[in-house]
Amino acid sequence: MVRARSEERLAIDGGRPVRQSFLPYGHQSIDEEDILAVVKVLQSDWITTGPKINEFEEAFARYVGAKHSVSFSSGTAALHGAAYAADLKLGDEAITTPMTFCATANSVLYLGATPIFADVSPDTLNIDLKEVKNRITKKTKIIIPVDYAGHPADLDPIMELAEEKELIVIEDACHSLGARYKGKQVGGICDMTVFSFHPVKHITTGEGGMVTTNDDEMATRLRRFRNHGIEGDARQRQAKGEWYYEMVDLGYNYRLTDIGCALGLSQLGKLDQNLARRRDIATYYRSALKGLPGIILSTVQRDILPAWHLFPIRFKRSSFSAGRSVIFAALRAENIGVNVHYIPVHLHPYYRQRFGYHSGEYPIAEAAYETLITLPMFHGMTDQDVEDVIDATKKVFGHYST
Ligand SMILES: Cc1ncc(COP(=O)(O)O)c(C=O)c1O
Repeated sequence: MVRARSEERLAIDGGRPVRQSFLPYGHQSIDEEDILAVVKVLQSDWITTGPKINEFEEAFARYVGAKHSVSFSSGTAALHGAAYAADLKLGDEAITTPMTFCATANSVLYLGATPIFADVSPDTLNIDLKEVKNRITKKTKIIIPVDYAGHPADLDPIMELAEEKELIVIEDACHSLGARYKGKQVGGICDMTVFSFHPVKHITTGEGGMVTTNDDEMATRLRRFRNHGIEGDARQRQAKGEWYYEMVDLGYNYRLTDIGCALGLSQLGKLDQNLARRRDIATYYRSALKGLPGIILSTVQRDILPAWHLFPIRFKRSSFSAGRSVIFAALRAENIGVNVHYIPVHLHPYYRQRFGYHSGEYPIAEAAYETLITLPMFHGMTDQDVEDVIDATKKVFGHYST
């Protein structure tokens, strides 16, 4: 008789793990073409702030359907740049979600402004419009929705609200490159949209980020901010035989290198295929896990095509004899590199100490966090990797099922 997975001894209890090698939750895919593109730049005159910057920015803008695309040295730097371009200042408030990576809210702090959290909807874990409305004050200047796990936030009503209240919307699309919202590509919908090219994302430049916008003035501010607050760049000056430059505002060195941009350009050519693979994996996961008692899959809303940066699941605590930390450890012991996205930002010690936050203030995000587990999701996963994740999930949750 074949024993059901749930009857097998768990690896954490000394049983055989579902797989022998560790499967991470995310991983880059780099091929020969990417390597050659980088080597070519290394052998050229410009390894930073050269011709690859414009090439990558233009190709990226075309892909997402935005007028301007401004590259940065990371998604975090890009968020900082976007908040600066929105003229966020000391005393201003920016409304964002607690269910995000801390960089989203930190970008507000960098400018001396205050992040104000608005709780999420229980279905998608994206920012809840009602909660945003409740948090608007005279000091509010921007709203930063985050497309959690790659599912775009409900952008149209957020943009309508922003227009009514004269606020700027910066979409944190670090999870959602290639996602579609009501048929529109993420990147040209909000005032500014921010992307990350960290290795676990849909394409990578090592570290890197991008802001897209249709607004000429914001694009100028973004370009200036990433280059010390100086207008123009060294290559333009060299081409014109000029040396004189002026620093007109306090900026940073947030430039992405030509090495990174060459990699990004090469990777961009594979984005559609990466997205297709992630969508296939998500479909497979969803059909395999939807019948599992007590497992909660996130909702995909109508007219949304997610980009599936992450595949988070939740579970009904009362359906299992163990909590998240035990289940997490059991899955890791099966060599499945599960992760948790996210610790709600307001619960981090820095935010608690600085703003006096405590548990209970954002009940939906906090309750979700208690049972969130991110399953591996990256475009380089093989069919066997996907099977292993499903097997291990069934084995572990089956074991602890009450
Ligand atoms: C939602 C979100 N915003 C911002 C960032 C920061 O991007 P980066 O790591 O490129 O600085 C991340 C990174 O993972 C993210 O997930």
